Amino acid sequence: MKKLLEAIVERNRHWTSQGEVASYIPELSKANRDALGICVVTLDGEEYSAGDYETKFTMQSVSKIVTLMLAILDNGKENVFSKVGMEPTSSSFNSIVNLETKNLNKPLNPMINSGAIATTALIAGETPEEKVERILKFTRRISGNPDIYINEDVYRSEKETGHRNRSLAYFMKSTGVIEGNVEESLDVYFKQCSMEVTARDLARIGALLANDGILPWTGEKIIPREVARIVKTIMVTCGLYDASGKFAVHIGIPSKSGVGGGILSAVPGRMGIGVVGPALDAKGNSIAGVKVLEDLSREMDLSIF
Ligand code: DON
Repeated sequence: MKKLLEAIVERNRHWTSQGEVASYIPELSKANRDALGICVVTLDGEEYSAGDYETKFTMQSVSKIVTLMLAILDNGKENVFSKVGMEPTSSSFNSIVNLETKNLNKPLNPMINSGAIATTALIAGETPEEKVERILKFTRRISGNPDIYINEDVYRSEKETGHRNRSLAYFMKSTGVIEGNVEESLDVYFKQCSMEVTARDLARIGALLANDGILPWTGEKIIPREVARIVKTIMVTCGLYDASGKFAVHIGIPSKSGVGGGILSAVPGRMGIGVVGPALDAKGNSIAGVKVLEDLSREMDLSIF
């Protein structure tokens, strides 16, 4: 397995030069554009890594699956999906237009920014600090990594430049989708996006989902099987935004990307996969990371379809 992963990373490394690191959050433009790495965690607890798998990056939109799990655990699925839809979108991840024109003012799904901010607003906690602490604690538990922290520079950069997210959130406040304090919900969202991880952390969270909510390395049940199923389904339909259909056809693995360059994948009953490659394509997905997953899916027959 390790040899296969190494070969796939090296074969696809040239794609990194075709992409760009995210620059709309200034601090993200410091990422290493040439990095490419992968980690696989199988359900019998084996781990295999290749390339620049030790590269640290911020979770960004990959955190949206963590907060979706936590919000469902805190509120139940009916309450969460009364505020946020579960339909894919053909617009970009930070698009505004659908909020007013589609789905009766409800964000289309929890993977686009509007839907993720609304989901985060539902997380239990008396104060924003307590919500962030709960998100961090949950992320550490499901990744088996007690050393996950917020990258303060990325957080500050997101907060200073997050005007689009602010406008999405205030619009949702006006329509009653967000009920609490808007700035506080945004602050929690900016912090969750700024959690710093490696491909291994993503692979482990992927393995939890692949294993129906049970941590493969301890046997501990973290989320009900139904919640794991809901999250994986939404990853298939919405996880790569307006590239989700193409990704499903070519790769066919429930996955979630982020503009930090991470992709988290869950192959049901088989493995979790974490990929890092900060050079992004035009839709905000890791350009080389998607190619790596395409090769791995083909060579190991991982498509769920
Ligand atoms: O809110 C934002 O724009 C970022 N913190 C996260 C967006 C993101 O990762 C979209 N991913 N491809």
